[in-house]
Amino acid sequence: MFITLEGIDGCGKSTQARLLAAALKHAGRDVLLLREPGGVAISEKIRGLLLDPENAAMCDACELLLYEAARAQLVHEVIRPALAQDRVVVCDRFYDSTTAYQAFAGGSTREDADRANALAVGDCRPDVTFVFDIDPEKAAVRREGRNDAPDRMEEKGLEFQQCVAEGFRTIAREEPQRVRTIDASQPVDAVFACMLAELAHAGLAVDAADARAALLQPEA
Ligand code: TMP
Repeated sequence: MFITLEGIDGCGKSTQARLLAAALKHAGRDVLLLREPGGVAISEKIRGLLLDPENAAMCDACELLLYEAARAQLVHEVIRPALAQDRVVVCDRFYDSTTAYQAFAGGSTREDADRANALAVGDCRPDVTFVFDIDPEKAAVRREGRNDAPDRMEEKGLEFQQCVAEGFRTIAREEPQRVRTIDASQPVDAVFACMLAELAHAGLAVDAADARAALLQPEA
C-alpha cells in the first residue's frame, strides 16, 4: 500500500507521517517512511538546490522540473521496488504537492504540472492520500515556533500558502476516493486518530495498542 501525506508548510504532516510509520511497524508491517523532495541520495541533493534561499533566481520551469527529477529518482530507486515487495510506503509529500505549490500557487500551469507528474511517476500512484488542512495563519505561527531559518519555499509568504491550501482543497474535491482531508488544527493525538479512522476505511486497520505505542515513542 502506498500512503502519502500532504498539506501546507507547518500543517503537522511530518509528525503524522512519523507516527503512522511507527504504529504500522509496531503492528508488524514492513514499512518504509520517505520524504519528498528527497528520500534517496540524488533526490536529497536536488532538495538542497530547491530549498536553498540563495537560489531565489530559480525560474518556474526549473523549479517544476527539479521537483519532478527528485521524484522520478525516488520512484525508480525505492518506491516502485518497495511496492513490488508488498511493503507499505508512507511518503511525506508526493505529486499533489507539485499540483498545489507549483500550479495552484506558483507560476506553472496545471497542464504542465499534470504532465510532469505523469512523467515522473508513471503508474506509481498513491492508494490513499491525507491532506492536513489548517488555516495558513495558524500554520505560520507553528512554523515561527521552530528555530530554523525559513527555506526558499517558506520565504514565499502567507498569500502563497493560502493559494497552496486552496490547491489542496481542490485536489481533495477532484479525487474524493483517494484524497481524505483531515482537520489539522486539532491536537496531535486527535489528528492521528482521525487519520487512522480514515485508513481503516481504506482497508488498513491499526489497532489502538499500536497507535498508543507510536504516540508514546520519543521523537526520532
Ligand atoms: P517539506 O518542508 O514538507 O519537507 O517540503 C519542502 C518544501 O518543498 C515545502 O515548502 C513544500 C515544497 N514542495 C513543492 O513546492 N513541490 C513539491 O512537489 C514538493 C514535494 C514539495
